[in-house]
Amino acid sequence: MGEHNNPVPVVAIVVAAGSGSRLGAAVPKALVPVAGVPLVTRVIERLAAGGVGEVIVVVPAAEREAFVEVLASAPVPVVWVDGGAERQDSVANGLAALPDLDEADAEGQVVLVHDAARAFVPAEVVARVIEAVRAGADAVVPAVPVSDTVRELTDTGSVVVDRARLRAVQTPQGFRRGLLEDAHAALYETRMTVTDDAAAAEYIGCDVVLVEGSRDAFKVTDPFDLVVAEAIAARGEPA
Ligand code: CTP
Ligand code: MG
Repeated sequence: MGEHNNPVPVVAIVVAAGSGSRLGAAVPKALVPVAGVPLVTRVIERLAAGGVGEVIVVVPAAEREAFVEVLASAPVPVVWVDGGAERQDSVANGLAALPDLDEADAEGQVVLVHDAARAFVPAEVVARVIEAVRAGADAVVPAVPVSDTVRELTDTGSVVVDRARLRAVQTPQGFRRGLLEDAHAALYETRMTVTDDAAAAEYIGCDVVLVEGSRDAFKVTDPFDLVVAEAIAARGEPA
């Protein structure tokens, strides 16, 4: 870190530019209210409570006005960016909007990437991810055990998978900024597609560190998930 009075803030890139087709709502998924509060509002409150100082929200270009209106009084500064065709493109657009810092500060800045659809992520999980990056991890992923028994399809049928060795991956995922920028640059150079940012980091040879996630950080995907979301909103933060 340089000679600052203010430490370099932790930045979160919140990807909210998907169409939400499986949810099938009339508005983009991140604007859907649960107990009266839009998912994107919930996300930013929880990120801020966990230690994020600035957010870059990646939104569908045609819907930017609606997002700006909903987040008029966010607890941290918000930068708006238009999304891309795939989630990976939306993250890349977010990375391009990171603040200008001197080289050493930029390299070491903690950057989180978070799905707006994981609106109920506990602040504690956010803080755990930040702490692990600060402790020196290349790439940090919150993960939870898998409760279903899983079978893997093969050419001839299917085989059981040892559930004890499986983890479901969540967000926010955390990185040192320089590393995440390098990872995304490498993907673009080789036209490689990944479904999350830890896979991007792994692609350039980084180790991925798992920290404890939370079932609350589930991804709101289809109408069933809104039933769960309403129940979590009624319950409040996990005990
Ligand atoms: N996302 C994005 N840009 C895209 C695609 C997805 O920013 N081009 C974001 C979504 O807004 C979401 C997260 O990535 O917060 C995870 O994606 P998903 O849950 O699949 O959301 P959608 O793509 O919006 O939903 P669906 O696949 O049902 O259309
Ligand atoms: Mg999608």
